[in-house]
Amino acid sequence: MSAIQPHGGKLINRVLAGQEREELLVKAASFVSIPVNTWTISDLDLIGVGAFSPLTGFMNEKDYLSVVNTMRLANGTIWSIPITLAVTNDQAANLSVGQQAALVGDTDGIVYGVIDIDSLYTVDKQHEAKQIFKTNDTEHPGVVKLLDRPDIYVGGSIQLLNRPKPEKFNEFYFDPSETRRIFAEKGWKTVVGFQTRNPVHRAHEYIQKSAMEIVDALFLNPLVGETKSDDVPANVRMKSYLALLENYYPKDRAFLGVFPAAMRYAGPREAIFHALVRKNYGCSHFIVGRDHAGVGDYYGTYEAQDLLKSLPIEELGITPLYFEHSFFCTKCGNMASSKTCPHDKEHHLTLSGTKVRALLRDGICPPPEFSRPEVAEILIEGMAEASKIYAI
Ligand code: ADX
Repeated sequence: MSAIQPHGGKLINRVLAGQEREELLVKAASFVSIPVNTWTISDLDLIGVGAFSPLTGFMNEKDYLSVVNTMRLANGTIWSIPITLAVTNDQAANLSVGQQAALVGDTDGIVYGVIDIDSLYTVDKQHEAKQIFKTNDTEHPGVVKLLDRPDIYVGGSIQLLNRPKPEKFNEFYFDPSETRRIFAEKGWKTVVGFQTRNPVHRAHEYIQKSAMEIVDALFLNPLVGETKSDDVPANVRMKSYLALLENYYPKDRAFLGVFPAAMRYAGPREAIFHALVRKNYGCSHFIVGRDHAGVGDYYGTYEAQDLLKSLPIEELGITPLYFEHSFFCTKCGNMASSKTCPHDKEHHLTLSGTKVRALLRDGICPPPEFSRPEVAEILIEGMAEASKIYAI
């Protein structure tokens, strides 16, 4: 097994199977039910399989307040993002502490799990927004999601009874216990995790490969849960990752597995969360580049790095690898950053996300110094597909 300790020391497993599962499913039919959406189902699932270790359930009030105000759980363990279950006033009226409730998919009626309620509390979402996102601006996609939810939270340990089923790319879903086993079987002692919600462009490839020079392997771990509507859909991205790995990465040193979580767009706080979760998957290192998990201009380019650097590395238990903003330099004739390139900005090829999307929408490949042609072609096809779908 991997030598990397899970966060909190133990990989949580709240997945019920066999007889135990059957029995709880029967009982759950008589519990009060709490409807859960895709986002909450993904949180529930990730808690269940230990990706969010040491969490054993949705946060109770003590942990929630401690995380919001101090970036630590009530017991002092570093944790930066609240993982919470929100209910409406009407739903809360039927719930009480000490009771069990069934967590039921709001569109499919599936009982995904059960929660042992140990806390029922009302929160100040404006405060949560300012602490987690550093803004309560309603243009911020994470703040919008937060403010959309009711402000009563239910805390307590969960048990997972059913798993959400991916529509596609099932073979790239691995639980932390599986990635840990796989890394160990491959003999990898050091693995660098890479979070992304985007296609992998040359700058991403450059920082991944720079990291690969000093560790045994890369765990390409794209986030495929909910993202904002103008991000490239996960199914298109998955095709592009496969094409990229096939053509440009050594097969025995790069491993693709998805991270089925929702994107929060919480910048620095989310970078910590992303690192801790990758530790649970068995990574020893984690890449943090420019404006990690950022959106718009809400966070400084290196704010996520600075926040991580302010935390004791032994408490993080995973080594962040920090990278400067990277680009192709036409004078150097290679990928570089301000750490390695002496030339002026005019020689640096940088394209904004908006510009790249516009090119792809028009069926034009961005230059190969920005994106591998195999990746660009898949993105162009994906965009064309999407526009067909939306036109119908
Ligand atoms: S994220 O929201 O998932 O962080 P993205 O997919 O853009 O966004 O980034 C994935 C990782 O690559 C992050 O660590 C980010 O900081 C880093 N990164 C993205 N672009 C660059 C770049 N041009 N130079 C250096 N690091 C980058």
